[in-house]
Order: sequence, then structure tokens, then C-alpha cells
Amino acid sequence: MKKYLINPNQKIAKINKDIYGTFSEHLGRCIYQGTYVGENSDIPNVNGMRKDVVNALKEMGIPVLRWPGGCFADEYHWKDGIGPKQARKKMINTHWGGLVEDNSFGTHEFFELCEQLGCDAYVNGNVGSGTVQEMSEWIEYITFDGMSPMSELRKKNGREKPWKLKYFGVGNESWGCGGNMMPHYYADEYRRYQVFVRDYDSNNRIYRIACGPNAFDFEWTDVLMHYAGNKMNGISLHYYTIPTGDWGHKGAALTYSDKEYYNTIINAYKMEELVRRHTEVMNRHDPEKRVDLIVDEWGTWYDVEEGTNPGFLYQQSTMRDALVAGLTLNIFNKHCDRVRMANIAQTVNVLQSVILTDGDKMVLTPTYHIFKMYKEHSENTLLGSYLTTDYLEDKITPVLTESASVKEDGTIVSTISNASLTESQEIKCQIADSVVSSIEARIVSADARAFNDFDKEPAVFEKEFTDFSLLSDGFTATIPPCSVVKFIVK
Ligand code: AHR
Repeated sequence: MKKYLINPNQKIAKINKDIYGTFSEHLGRCIYQGTYVGENSDIPNVNGMRKDVVNALKEMGIPVLRWPGGCFADEYHWKDGIGPKQARKKMINTHWGGLVEDNSFGTHEFFELCEQLGCDAYVNGNVGSGTVQEMSEWIEYITFDGMSPMSELRKKNGREKPWKLKYFGVGNESWGCGGNMMPHYYADEYRRYQVFVRDYDSNNRIYRIACGPNAFDFEWTDVLMHYAGNKMNGISLHYYTIPTGDWGHKGAALTYSDKEYYNTIINAYKMEELVRRHTEVMNRHDPEKRVDLIVDEWGTWYDVEEGTNPGFLYQQSTMRDALVAGLTLNIFNKHCDRVRMANIAQTVNVLQSVILTDGDKMVLTPTYHIFKMYKEHSENTLLGSYLTTDYLEDKITPVLTESASVKEDGTIVSTISNASLTESQEIKCQIADSVVSSIEARIVSADARAFNDFDKEPAVFEKEFTDFSLLSDGFTATIPPCSVVKFIVK
């Protein structure tokens, strides 16, 4: 019997809802076909946005959407994506499959999408191939309510009032596809560009995000925090889970050995070390925790599905991905005093998507159900908690992960993932100084290789979980192998 202790007296920090954010890039079929089909499409849409996808994302509770990239952000010139669609410039999307980008989805369409979704906007600016003026004018175009060249242009293009822009990223992966910069050089560039990310409206104070490290590059974080920490609200972190750890042969999405499954879990759990160690570096420069860590790209990255364009990064998604999502979101919850936002890569049809589409068909991936389940933690307060567990072969990665939070009305929410392929886990949960009157629980559980396919009954979904017993101060439960469970305790 594993012991699980939740301490409602230890209130740690708010779990920001934006931890459950997603990311949409002009990549493969993420935007075009997956989200935006245009007003004249036969696929049911509102102003070009797919109704099925928008409704599903709303149902999932999407809080924030990052756009337009990714690598694409640093070759995106926003003025090509405004005005009459027939007159918009076409370009080659060199990073992603060499496709012709017709710019029919641009600034107006992105904010229309956010409005339909009821979510906040996170726009990533172009430092790699863009100018300070271009970035500055984009902010002016989006947010300025007064009279100025850019606000007049916006009005001419049909939008009278400015939009609300919550987050702005100054470059993407500036250490790589965003310009191959060294940390000192980017720190200077960041300092310069961010000056012109102006708050045109006192009601729209923009939250500035500096491009942060690639995975284990702690020097990048150190240099950025040292030279520019006082000029940013957040610094990003990118980390992808590759089963084999080898970018050349990443491993398949659907067919994998048990060893590959466990390696995926082990590699996904490295997020804990990353968040902890980057936080330690940040603590040296910013002990008050003024600057947040923004994990704006994370998720599994497999070899693309056979027969698909390698530049489109299309992959299917199994119960293994649900486990990765469950344990990763537990990590973010546990570090919510530093992690304010995270954006899974990506929203539709790319990498660890929450939704896949094929023509007019749509499936919700296992990851979708985890996001929907975890939104119950949004805006709650993280509680101190501890769960005893066995460990995987590396002796670092726990078989069980958990996080617990409390709502304003005292309801406790706990999510637990069990990565074992074979063993169920008996747990005994005690909630300090509490009397428990009722518990509801939900579960996502299936064979590790189960996935949701087009034209088939869903194989992975959320359902009621009943294998628990109430105790006066907690509960006992049997967590099945390969599952993610949520308890709502009153
Ligand atoms: O998400 C796919 C790509 O991964 C992004 O464009 C880039 O930022 C990262 O390398």
C-alpha cells in the first residue's frame, strides 16, 4: 500500500490556468485544414474556423493559444497576412515542408480564433529575420486605440477596436532556427527589441517573454537572467520527449516495445529536472520569483506517420501520450510557483496534438482527455502533497506521479498517473486535519498502444472511476496500470 499525504495547511501557490495552454504554428495541417478552412469550405465553419475543432477546444477549456510559431515565427512578416486575402503575398514555408503559405490566416484570423475560443492570445514576434520597427508596428496594430498609422491601417482592414494581447514572445529558439545566436548576443537583442514592445493601452500591459533555453542549456538561462532578467516577465523553455533520445530515429508513434514505452516515460520525466534546475538558476538572479518560467513548447516527438510529408510532423497518439501529458502536467502543477504558462506542441495535427483531423473528420486524442480532466486544477491553490512510489529502471522516474490543489470552496482536486504497464497500485490517501464527506473520480485508462482513430469508436476516453473507498480523513484506491486518475474530494 503506497502512502499519499495531502496537506491542506500547506498552500503553495496558484496554479495558473495558462499551464494548460496549447501552441499552433503554421506547420503542416495545424492551422490550414486543422483549424482554419476558409469561409467557402464545405466543412462547417464560422468565419473560416472549423466548428468541430473550436467546440472541442472550448470544451477542453483552452485558456491560451500561442501563434504563429515556432520556427515559422522568425520568418513571418505580419504585414503579409493582413488586408484583402487575394492580395496577400504568398511565401514558401521553408522550415515546414516547403509548402506555399498564402497568408490567408493572419493577425485578424488569429484574434478571431481566440475570440471564438474565448482564450487569451500569445503572439510570438520575429527577431531572426524581422526588424525592431516591424515588431513595434505589429504591437501598435494589435493594441493601439488612438490615432496612428497602424491603428488606421487596422481600421481600414475592418477592425475598429484593438484586440487584447496578453503575452508577447520576443523571438523563438533564437539559439537555433530563430537566428543561431549566442546567449550574450541574444540578451542584447532582447533588451533592444523589448523596448519597442510598448504598452499602447494602460489596460493592456503586455507580458514580455524572452526566448529561453533549449532543454539542458543552463548557461543560456544564466546569461539571460543576468543581463536581461529585469526586463522580462517570463523566460521560455523548450523540451521535447523523444523515446530513443536520438533525433535521427525517434521511434514510432503507434508501434513500440515496452522498453521504448518506459524510455518515453523516463525522457518525459526529465521535465522535472529541467524545471527544477532552471528554477535554481533563476532563483540566483530573481529570488522573489518575479520572472516566470514559460514552457511554451513541450510534448512527444516521434517519427512522422508513414506516407505523410516529413515536414508536416504529423503523428498519431496513444495512451502512452496520455501518460506523458498526465505526468508532465503534474510536474507543472508542482512547480506552479515558477511555471506560469505552458503550451503543448501542438494543438491540431502536429506532434502531441490534442486533436487530429482528416478532411471533415476529427478525433480527440488521449492527450485531449487529460487536458480536459486537469482543467479542474485551473486557478486552484497547489497543496503540499507526497506519494510514496516505486521507480523505473533509471531509479529517478517515479512510477506514480501526483499533484493536489484546493479550490476556494475547499474542494480538493488530485491527479495521479500510474506509468506501470502491468501493476496496479494500491494507495492510501490521508488529508491532514480534514473530514471527507464525498469523493468523485474520473479515469483515462487503456492499453498503452490504444489510440483513437477516424471512423472508429474511441478507444481512449475519460470515464467514471469507482475503485476507491472513503475513509474519514481520505480514501483508499487501486490505480490501474497505464492510467491517469482524478479525485475530487469534498
Ligand atoms: O514544434 C515544432 C518546432 O519545434 C517549432 O517550430 C520549434 O520552435 C521547435 O524546434
